[in-house]
Amino acid sequence: MSPSSPGVAQPIAIAASLAEALASAQRVVAMTGAGVSAESGIPTFRDALTGLWARYDPLALATPSAFARQPKVVWDWYAMRRDAIRDVQPNDGHRALVDLERRAPAFLLATQNVDGLHGRAGTRALVELHGNLARVRCSRENRVVERWDEPLDDLPPRCPHCGAFLRPDVVWFDEPLPARALALAEDEASRCDLMIVAGTSAEVHPAASLPLIAKAAGARLVEVNPRETALTPLADDVLRAASGLALPALVRAAWPHDLHAGGSAPPARADGGGAK
Ligand code: OAD
Repeated sequence: MSPSSPGVAQPIAIAASLAEALASAQRVVAMTGAGVSAESGIPTFRDALTGLWARYDPLALATPSAFARQPKVVWDWYAMRRDAIRDVQPNDGHRALVDLERRAPAFLLATQNVDGLHGRAGTRALVELHGNLARVRCSRENRVVERWDEPLDDLPPRCPHCGAFLRPDVVWFDEPLPARALALAEDEASRCDLMIVAGTSAEVHPAASLPLIAKAAGARLVEVNPRETALTPLADDVLRAASGLALPALVRAAWPHDLHAGGSAPPARADGGGAK
């Protein structure tokens, strides 16, 4: 079994100091990446064998120039991914972040994921830094379009208002992130007491800068990832486990007397310092 596959639940030891820090934090930010959706069956990008970028060339599919060169190829690739996420469900990791939002005095979830699963799980304070795969917008005017006709020719559908090609409402390489979403995430990162960074390789900026902003401002940094990342050396606590196990365990450990916190299994608390 790979670390990212769903399987038999192992008890996750949460350091008492981490549980206490989370329970007493006034402002909490969570930052997530593709790994959080791995247990829902959505492939990550950079995992060696199963990641999308192991099988597809990002430069041929996820850049404005790729869309200019081969608009139908790009449109079809995203349409395939849109179809693939339609039937997937949020997992325990997504749900634990909903539980956390209900308990933290102030909370923001900044996700790089475009699958919409955090919103479907019930997270309310959510910024989608890289857009949302379910949305389609006009490539010229950026207006979000709900309905379109699939053309018979070998081109993407066209905007019903201006006739330009439609495109997925996601951020491609070489494109800026949505300004308001990024500004809000940066602001919360600079003010939070504790940031949880889950399921991301932390390689793609500016999203990967958010933990650096939080750390520089004095926040406690918690990494949740089965594998080491660029962020690991900076993390105060590292939970080396799948997020579908580690995030519920973390929430249960912080609020052990709350029956609804992070599922029903009892928390395993370790004494002493970080789990790193
Ligand atoms: P990556 O594929 O780069 O990283 C996924 C991370 O999830 C890795 O560090 C894995 O170890 C970890 N992981 C795998 N299974 C996990 C599990 N069950 N629980 C927790 N972690 C797990 O994905 P991102 O960091 O999200 O951008 O990639 C960032 C951006 O690069 C994406 O938003 C996308 C991509 O190009 C755009 O498309 C603009």
